[in-house]
Amino acid sequence: MSAQPAHVAPAAFDVAAIRAQFPALRQEIHGKPLVYLDNAATTQKPLCVIEAVNQFYRLDNANIHRGVHTLSARATEHYEAAREQIRQSLNAAAIEEIVFVRGTTEAINLVAASFGTRLKAGDEILISALEHHANIVPWHMLRERIGIVLKVIPVNDSGELDLSALPALITPRTRLLAVNHVSNALGTINPVQAICAQAHAHGVPVLIDGAQGLPHGLVDVQALGCDFYAMSGHKAFGPSGVGALYARRPWLDELPPYQGGGDMIESVRFDVVRYAPPPTKFEAGTPNIEGAIGLGTALIWHAAQDWPAIAAHEAKLLATATAGLKEISGLRIIGTAAHKVPVVSFVIEGSHPHDMGTLLDAMGIAVRTGQHCAMPVLEQLGAPAGTVRASFALYNTIDEVTALIRAVHRAHKLLS
Ligand code: ALA
Repeated sequence: MSAQPAHVAPAAFDVAAIRAQFPALRQEIHGKPLVYLDNAATTQKPLCVIEAVNQFYRLDNANIHRGVHTLSARATEHYEAAREQIRQSLNAAAIEEIVFVRGTTEAINLVAASFGTRLKAGDEILISALEHHANIVPWHMLRERIGIVLKVIPVNDSGELDLSALPALITPRTRLLAVNHVSNALGTINPVQAICAQAHAHGVPVLIDGAQGLPHGLVDVQALGCDFYAMSGHKAFGPSGVGALYARRPWLDELPPYQGGGDMIESVRFDVVRYAPPPTKFEAGTPNIEGAIGLGTALIWHAAQDWPAIAAHEAKLLATATAGLKEISGLRIIGTAAHKVPVVSFVIEGSHPHDMGTLLDAMGIAVRTGQHCAMPVLEQLGAPAGTVRASFALYNTIDEVTALIRAVHRAHKLLS
């Protein structure tokens, strides 16, 4: 969510040209053109990513870091090249700062497990009321296991963090602040750079759950100043089951491994084990090699897009959807923050989100319904049964927004 870096020459933004790169968008669902508005759950994949994964299986498939044979060397080269692509995309200072994981959930669990070994009963972890369960439950598990205290930055009725509460919440026992870049349930963009600066002024490291941030812009982890940044490939136009944890090198040197097994060691005896240096220390077992290669390709594709133009396009999608949906009687938008990515979560008096989602599907429109793995914030904002969530990506069009609004009108009539 920063401007284009000077060294990348963006492709001029043209939504039709972008759509042409996504084969999954060219299909009908129940005889209607697919309108895919479930991008916060997962994004579709451009051809270059599909081809990178396909090419690995057709030509390059072998295990990495293990064989002297040519195919293994080639697979290792592609896997490590993907790590470098991710480093470049996130502007990490060093390639060792990129750890491959299954996704954001595993990245946060890795930090909770490894960082958790430093914690004692009474130590505090600060999260926010806007978090996805993936950034609540791992810390809650530390509370159960060690007796740490979980503190929560409050959220206001618009779905914005109340950062005026931050000074009082940070205490000498605060060990880590973990917050999302963008709320998956509401779309709120959090001022993570300012949060990092404030936390660091008190010596508190910061983990950012970036699952929903990266799909909507460039991320520069050094400019943000975070200690950890967690991301998922599948939300950023890459494959499922792979993601990356960025961590500043001193943390990776200091923290113990997360899982034990092959590849993450230098030597093993029955009386002593020596671990490999980072990032290998954190990558036990055969990884998702083809996924990593697909993720590297996805992030290079992502970095080459015209993000200032996409930001304007996405703002128009959000404004048009919000204005059109607000006209529907009984419809309430949940999450009205001033700074949002194009996510519109809503409830309609008298109709259950699942019924609305089912009717929209019959009209070719894919949305997510339910609690979006964010029960606390939806309960606080008066939507305990969940919402209907339309989440847009750079390839969605104003015509699709119009189709959504028309379909919600029709579904609402059928349900009332
Ligand atoms: N976290 C994903 C979502 O928000 C699955 O839908």
